[in-house]
Amino acid sequence: MNTSLQSLIAAAGLMLAAGAYALTPDQEARIEDLLSRMTQEEKIGQLNQISGDGYSPRMSEAATKGTAGSVLNEVDPTVISRLQHDAVEKSRLGIPLVFARDVIHGFRTIFPIPLGQGATWNPALVEEGSRIAAKEATSTGVRWTFSPMVDIARDARWGRIAEGYGEDPVLTGAMGEAAVRGYQGNDLSSPDALAACVKHFAGYGAAESGRDYNTTWIPDVLLHDVYLPPFKQAADAGAATFMCSFNEINGVPSSGNSYLLRDLLRDSWGWNGLVVSDWGSIREMIPHGFCEDMADAARKAANAGVDVDMESYAYLPNLAKLVEEGKVSQATIDDMVRNMLRLKMELGLFYNPYAPKSDASAFYTPEALEAAQRTVEESTILLKNNGILPLKGSQKIFVTGPMADAPHDQCGTWSFDGEKSHTVTPLAALREKYGDDAVIYMPGLAYSRDLSTDGFAAAVKAAGDADVILYFTGEEAVLSGEAHSRADISLPGAQTAYLEALKAAGKPIVTVVMAGRPLTLPTESRLSDALLCSFHPGTMGGAALARIIAGEVSPGGKLPVSLPRMVGQLPLYYSAKNTGRPANEITLIGDIPLEAGQTSTGCTSFFLDAGVAPLYPFGYGLSYTTFEYGAPELSASEMAADGSITVTCKVTNTGSVAASDVAQLYVRDLVGSLTRPVKELKHFEKFTLAPGESRNVTFTLTADELAFHNAKGERIIEPGKFHLWVDNSSLCEAAPVEFSIR
Ligand code: NOJ
Repeated sequence: MNTSLQSLIAAAGLMLAAGAYALTPDQEARIEDLLSRMTQEEKIGQLNQISGDGYSPRMSEAATKGTAGSVLNEVDPTVISRLQHDAVEKSRLGIPLVFARDVIHGFRTIFPIPLGQGATWNPALVEEGSRIAAKEATSTGVRWTFSPMVDIARDARWGRIAEGYGEDPVLTGAMGEAAVRGYQGNDLSSPDALAACVKHFAGYGAAESGRDYNTTWIPDVLLHDVYLPPFKQAADAGAATFMCSFNEINGVPSSGNSYLLRDLLRDSWGWNGLVVSDWGSIREMIPHGFCEDMADAARKAANAGVDVDMESYAYLPNLAKLVEEGKVSQATIDDMVRNMLRLKMELGLFYNPYAPKSDASAFYTPEALEAAQRTVEESTILLKNNGILPLKGSQKIFVTGPMADAPHDQCGTWSFDGEKSHTVTPLAALREKYGDDAVIYMPGLAYSRDLSTDGFAAAVKAAGDADVILYFTGEEAVLSGEAHSRADISLPGAQTAYLEALKAAGKPIVTVVMAGRPLTLPTESRLSDALLCSFHPGTMGGAALARIIAGEVSPGGKLPVSLPRMVGQLPLYYSAKNTGRPANEITLIGDIPLEAGQTSTGCTSFFLDAGVAPLYPFGYGLSYTTFEYGAPELSASEMAADGSITVTCKVTNTGSVAASDVAQLYVRDLVGSLTRPVKELKHFEKFTLAPGESRNVTFTLTADELAFHNAKGERIIEPGKFHLWVDNSSLCEAAPVEFSIR
């Protein structure tokens, strides 16, 4: 087909990003004045970030001498205030410190893990939660969070899949942008604004086999079309800082990658914020085999564009000598320092270095708890329901499973500052809702990895006295997150065996999965009458789940990732290529006749034992009502390469309760100069409809959104035919509508 002839070719990144910093001329002048008065030692001190250990002599000395410019992991307001007083009042130039923390999904009030937030498909809710997290964290004096993580993850073995918004660049980009807006608010200098840090730049989620910190090989086309767009979106949203990643990408560690950090991020995207290394990642370029020693690592990181050294201690002892030797220029050092001073200036720390007097009233406010609960309601995904949910009337409930009353574990990874005494577990919430007498509780298993079957018999017997079994299952918090990859992503311990045992009670079973990743749940799906996935839901998880179970609200989540049947299907994602042998017909292992011939299974691209489809697809999630999607209507069947069309789709709530749904617009570029995915999400919108109510969902689809990168790294829009669907999952079962770019 006609490919590049009429192509509109735009070099990558022609559009300038909204800069992270926009200081006034006076503020810039103040920074220049400071720079002119700083010794080399003071400059390099600003580029050193250290982890706090209370108000220790080491910390006080760093603040007073200016051998650190920023501190991470200190959240005690008294310690923060004392260190800041040391920096402002006792250091030679009075430059304030900036305090940083991993506020990943809430500070005290813990929201669902980011993967769960991705399942809301509601950026406004992510923004609201991030604003609340910022208010709580900044009340202590912390002004910088290492969030959001916008790494695309398509391999659920990777423990850090918990920390991002899933497999898709459009969904991840929208959520990352919302988080940046929420953390930073309208004005970074406001005392309750938290500087965002977009991480991990770049490609960290593509670690081989999902083993954390591992090698990534990402072809340029995939890098530009899938992995980088959410970063670009967050940069455009004004994110103040970026963090480079641990991994090497195509042979070059990110911490020494001047293509990513200078050519792309700064020169091409026009972003002007601060880049921090990951913890020790400058030093780690030595074991990567990219640097000889710490001096070499400091040289490569500084020249590549890493402004701040987090805990490698490579910059402090080496940068001055590297400048003397001419291996790093003074101009480079000054630029790095400028970036740090600008961050502090943007945050208002030069004018207002101290947090307002901190007290606990900033934490767990009714608004925060309500928003956290709403986020769980909107992120819990109903995967299966044979009609048992919502529970009808008063019932005797058997509550069981290791996650039924696990206040620590339901908060998930990176919930350093949450307090389990504030967590509402499902058991507590169900007792409150249904009354103590209606709830029989027996955990069956003490924790998710528990292998002991000793409690099964008594539990099955007790379950016999109930009308329904509510089985809370999943992963302990520690089984996902950084450095917590798993090769087997089924339910750990004896949890599946326990479900099989519970069947003997002869009662309907509702299984609720609280985990840090998509797990393989084929048995759970088969044996359960209803299956809910809430990922790790955080502080208000139990309260929200009890409301869902009782039918006070319909579960509003949609999968932000494909749910595999078997680990061997990984990496798994909906926007795959068709191949020359698409699996239109498959023969599964049990259907192969004895001594069948070599070609008898069809010779297409699938697994004999897993087929080709996920257990549940990206974008999927049932509700307590049903929705009908009309055929999408297009404003025109053709658009110019710089044009757009409007897509309208009528959606009706055809069931009997009010509920939310997510209209998802997918396209397929039928023929390209490079093959295109079978489906790509381009837009989505979440809405709520009353029973019987209809509404038109309208999207504007631009030709620009159909661009992709060619092998030369050029962003191109090709003329040709496209298919389009609007539906409430990536399944898109209705016939597509065709349009074209001329
Ligand atoms: C290492 C992690 O990769 C990063 O995400 C985190 O922000 C830093 N440690 C600081 O804790």
